Amino acid sequence: MARKKLIAGNWKMNCLSAEGVALAKAVAEKVKANKYDCDFLICPPFTLLGLVKKCLRGTKIALGAQDVHFAEFGAHTGDISPLMLKDLGCSYTIIGHSERRVDHKESNALINKKAVAAHQAGLNTVICIGETGAERDAGKTIKVCQDEINGSVPADATAKNTVIAYEPIWAIGTGKTPTATDVQEVHAAIRAALAKKLGKATAQKMRILYGGSVKPNNASELLKLPDVDGALIGGASLKADDFVAIAANALK
Ligand code: 13P
Repeated sequence: MARKKLIAGNWKMNCLSAEGVALAKAVAEKVKANKYDCDFLICPPFTLLGLVKKCLRGTKIALGAQDVHFAEFGAHTGDISPLMLKDLGCSYTIIGHSERRVDHKESNALINKKAVAAHQAGLNTVICIGETGAERDAGKTIKVCQDEINGSVPADATAKNTVIAYEPIWAIGTGKTPTATDVQEVHAAIRAALAKKLGKATAQKMRILYGGSVKPNNASELLKLPDVDGALIGGASLKADDFVAIAANALK
């Protein structure tokens, strides 16, 4: 079953207005100039969502946030609701990135609750999972991923409203990646865990992205693996040339 690749950029806490607009415009122009047969998603910080949305007009690049609260409105100082993201033109939000799991102590239960709220508001979610270096060394990678799938992915997840991102924490921003064999093994195990939870048909259609030091020079090897359906890119998404080159190499 063919799953269309998704090339997603997570800008994290980077860019002020001028830089963010320039980056979004550069990506938009490059994507427009080429007929890449994949989906694109850009997830800037909350502060830039409105500005970046304008830059993406007339392109097929989707806009996403990096987190969301589970409530619609109310007394949650500093938080942003799914309806607010919809209102800004987002169609996606990342949920449960390891940096949020660590910095904000987000649990699987909270991530699950956020995903349900996002889906109810009509947003698609990119739910992140992945093991630490210590867990990997202890041979627990697959067990950690299975537990995170079971806990974080809500029962209402469909192949349309949910994308999984496997991001080994030790590979994020380090220049290190697992071997292609390891990535394929973990992605296949994630798909099996999704099949158990959501049914085989849904699992077969659901996209599972790889994230962690994806660059133009390793994209082709990682993205041609049978269970890798795209990439969630941090550092390299901050350079328009690199971000788009990853798509070009992935489709080779
Ligand atoms: P890097 O591509 O910088 O390793 O970041 C990956 C990531 O965390 C994307 O969400």
